[in-house]
Amino acid sequence: MIGIMCAMREELEPILEKVEIKNVIEYAKNNYYMAQFGKLDLVLAYSKIGKVNASTTASILIEKFKAQKILFSGVAGAIEKDLKIGDLIIATKTTQHDVDLTVFGYEPGFIPESKIFFECDKHLNDLAKTVAKKLGIKLKEGIIASGDQFIHNKEKKEWIAKTFKASAIEMEGGAVGCVTWTLDVPFFMLRAISDTAQEGAGVDFDEFLEKSSEVSAKFLIEMLRQMENEK
Ligand code: ADE
Repeated sequence: MIGIMCAMREELEPILEKVEIKNVIEYAKNNYYMAQFGKLDLVLAYSKIGKVNASTTASILIEKFKAQKILFSGVAGAIEKDLKIGDLIIATKTTQHDVDLTVFGYEPGFIPESKIFFECDKHLNDLAKTVAKKLGIKLKEGIIASGDQFIHNKEKKEWIAKTFKASAIEMEGGAVGCVTWTLDVPFFMLRAISDTAQEGAGVDFDEFLEKSSEVSAKFLIEMLRQMENEK
């Protein structure tokens, strides 16, 4: 069983259009779509925005629906200069930029008995790179930082860039990274850029959410095609 998650309805809808939905299960104030993509069994959901919602959905996908890997698709704000609106990035690692226990001498993002960075699955990232190469699509990879804030401030963006060496910002990946690391489940995260996380980002996000969600969804579907071929 493959778990596919997004944060927002707009991010999930273009994926749902391309799979064969068999059943919809209402659970924990959310909808879980049981679906088929060729030979692949899928369970899909959007969590709602933020780290707590994302952790809940990731945990349910794994514990209740027995997802053996989690694929995330959605949008992000760009940090790296050569990431433009509509460009795709996969996470090498995710982190929580809003975790701050520095008063106790810990590094930003560090929680005792946990860690700052959560590694994404190398095999799934290699698969994404193979698909991108085959289709001639530009695909960046880098660290993606998450927090429960929509970043629309150059100073804050630069702090996150410098502190975590992050290439993009969003609001869920660090949480899903933590859940999948805790439960030993491979995690893959793909994001298409919707804004540049500085002044004006809110306007860009509203304008490009749907379009960038589609870019990410379309690439995820190509990855499923490749996974099906390899099955
Ligand atoms: N998701 C997309 N753009 C974002 C931003 N600027 N900050 C946080 N999450 C985002």
